[in-house]
Amino acid sequence: MFVNKKTDDLDLNNIPAHIAFIMDGNGRWAKKRKMPRTYGHHEGTKTIRTLALEANRLGVKAMTVYAFSTENFKREASEVEYIFKLPKEFFDLYLKELVENNVQIRYIGHLELAPQETRNIITDAVARTSQNTGLILTFAFIYGGRDEIVQTTKKICEKYKNGEIELDDITEDYFEQQLMTGDLPPVDLMIRSSGEYRLSNFLLWQLTYAEFVFDDTLWPDFDEAELHRCIRIYQGRERRFGGVLK
Ligand code: FPP
Repeated sequence: MFVNKKTDDLDLNNIPAHIAFIMDGNGRWAKKRKMPRTYGHHEGTKTIRTLALEANRLGVKAMTVYAFSTENFKREASEVEYIFKLPKEFFDLYLKELVENNVQIRYIGHLELAPQETRNIITDAVARTSQNTGLILTFAFIYGGRDEIVQTTKKICEKYKNGEIELDDITEDYFEQQLMTGDLPPVDLMIRSSGEYRLSNFLLWQLTYAEFVFDDTLWPDFDEAELHRCIRIYQGRERRFGGVLK
């Protein structure tokens, strides 16, 4: 693997504050090697570690990875069970290093639907890193974008019902703060690996003005050099947020 510790010709003054990844292609990566799909997921966790360390080094503030969608329950039970074991594997191997690098771990999604051991592993990693001030690495785990919007709407309705807010307090900014990603910076860049061109119910609200890069690399092969390439594409884009070209 090509490990690039330089920054190529990246503009370090224009690094995306928040990068979201749809980690796709684990199954195909494994199939190409005549291995079970689960081996692809296993290898895919290494990519998370590689990219988190590199994003942190580049000064990215937040990185959010789509680890398990609400729809992924449709997969074979054995694959689902395997994915639920990955947090233990991941944090056993890498939590120490992530702590040393000041990375903060968070999750969004319905963790309560995961097995107790998986829940404990993730909540422990969150607790142990809560004071860290480097990259915020968020796992979207049992997460769905539409579900998040519904949950947020319910939460706001409760506050209204309890008299905590007025109807006119419900603005776009307020709604955004109430999302599971509440205090994270807006997503600047969304990267999907493996040549698929879909959002698959990921961060629907948050991606409104994000730049999208769809990359052909299968997730286990995605490395620092690929990340740099995607950031360079981002840096070449003219962001207008609905305005006009200057
Ligand atoms: C899609 O590949 C990828 C997933 C369903 C995510 C798998 C999860 C991880 C890599 C990491 C989870 C880690 C932690 C620490 C929670 P695919 O199976 O859809 O690939 P395919 O399209 O080639 O079949």
